[in-house]
Amino acid sequence: MDNQSIDQDTGQAVECEVRILTGVAPEDVESLLDMAAACGMFNDDELSTAESMVWDCAYQGESDACRFIQARTNDTGGDSLAGFLCYGALAHWPDSFELIGISVTPRLQRQGIGSAMLAEMERQVAARGGRRILLETESARAFEAAHSFYEANGYDREDRFLRQFIPKEGGLVYRKDFTSEAPERQPQ
Ligand SMILES: CC(C)(COP(=O)(O)OP(=O)(O)OC[C@H]1O[C@@H](n2cnc3c(N)ncnc32)[C@H](O)[C@@H]1OP(=O)(O)O)[C@@H](O)C(=O)NCCC(=O)NCCS
Repeated sequence: MDNQSIDQDTGQAVECEVRILTGVAPEDVESLLDMAAACGMFNDDELSTAESMVWDCAYQGESDACRFIQARTNDTGGDSLAGFLCYGALAHWPDSFELIGISVTPRLQRQGIGSAMLAEMERQVAARGGRRILLETESARAFEAAHSFYEANGYDREDRFLRQFIPKEGGLVYRKDFTSEAPERQPQ
């Protein structure tokens, strides 16, 4: 994907490239956890869960329960993290997957990077025979941008009780159902 970033020193727009890739290496762990903490949308429990998931994926490899997709950019000269997404299969519900967390670095938001990571996750889920993706977010005002983002990407708010996915108090569930045919991959 061709994107634009804003140079922190000059305020000028900088052309950059963003690549979407799967997996996480040990050297990616710190930047990924820093991004999760900096976005301010994950509470302490969620951050500590993210920490153990990312270490497990980096050192023991990906599992059905947890896979990472990264967006990487060259906008600051070298290769750096532009965003990440974590998803996994729901235990006991082989056709259902959960989007566990997603974040894009603020300087690169609203350029399609979050949507490109979602599209890659959906392609992978469909290739694994998945029929739906569920996610939990919160109803608080701070999450309104995330609601708009999910809705713009075809996720519907689920108002019914789903026995495979019970949100915590104040939690909101979104879902997207699709056939087993893989969605088109976004141009990169
Ligand atoms: C939510 C998030 C991942 C979106 O990533 P992104 O790369 O900026 O999203 P995209 O550029 O793919 O946005 C696609 C569409 O979603 C909607 N959208 C995205 N961000 C939005 C915002 N801040 N306000 C309103 N709509 C928004 C828009 O319709 C947008 O299309 P447009 O830019 O053409 O109008 C990013 O804002 C983020 O990291 N936020 C902080 C972490 C977070 O909230 N995670 C989710 C917790 S539940």
